[in-house]
Amino acid sequence: MGREFLDIFAEWADSYDQTVSGHDPQYMEVFSNYNQILEEVANRAISTVLEFGVGTGNLTQVLLQKGLKVTGVEPSKEMRQIALQKLPSFVEINEGDFLTFPMQEGIQSIVSTYAFHHLTDEEKEKAFRIYSSMLDKGQKIVFADTMFESEQIFTTMIEDAKQKGYNRLAGDLLSEYYTTIPKLKDMVTSAGFSADFKQLNQFVWIMEAIKR
Ligand SMILES: C[S@@+](CC[C@H](N)C(=O)[O-])C[C@H]1O[C@@H](n2cnc3c(N)ncnc32)[C@H](O)[C@@H]1O
Repeated sequence: MGREFLDIFAEWADSYDQTVSGHDPQYMEVFSNYNQILEEVANRAISTVLEFGVGTGNLTQVLLQKGLKVTGVEPSKEMRQIALQKLPSFVEINEGDFLTFPMQEGIQSIVSTYAFHHLTDEEKEKAFRIYSSMLDKGQKIVFADTMFESEQIFTTMIEDAKQKGYNRLAGDLLSEYYTTIPKLKDMVTSAGFSADFKQLNQFVWIMEAIKR
């Protein structure tokens, strides 16, 4: 379920932290303000946190620094291994994905960065329904990811990447399941949340969805 991109992460795991620090020109804008994006997500999270798509553990570290209790979920063995080397031994990083994961009691916020676009829109809707059944009123989902204000802006960004010769970026935008804010808002609202969105760079927005 949404695991069709794991080969990319098996290959990318060792150099992933270099990419997020701006070493790859094609992805420089996608990862611009990366540390502030992680901070912004962590600042909105509340007490007991479930984090999806932990990757190399960068957001997990920020959440822990803020005194939050975190359990992680990550489907890629290669990414999980790097995260586990970085993180204190008491942190649990489970094998799983956005839809299939060990159910945890007492979760108050569900967070993720740069990962939700691995689900199709149908899978995203399913994920929101699962999270709605786990959270109580006032508890929340905080996701930062690439998304677009409209289909037209999405198309323009793909053309822009092609024009700059950023063919890996253009290919990524075309092949993974990036969506638009109106669609996400519709999905998450139908699942029982009130959602706000804020732009963090040209590609990445943060969605904070509070259970009604
Ligand atoms: C671009 S990395 C982001 C890592 C980290 N969250 C960060 O902000 O640096 C995307 C992560 O999502 C994971 N991923 C891919 N498909 C997933 C799925 N269906 N459910 C959860 N995580 C997934 C990948 O293995 C990878 O670790």
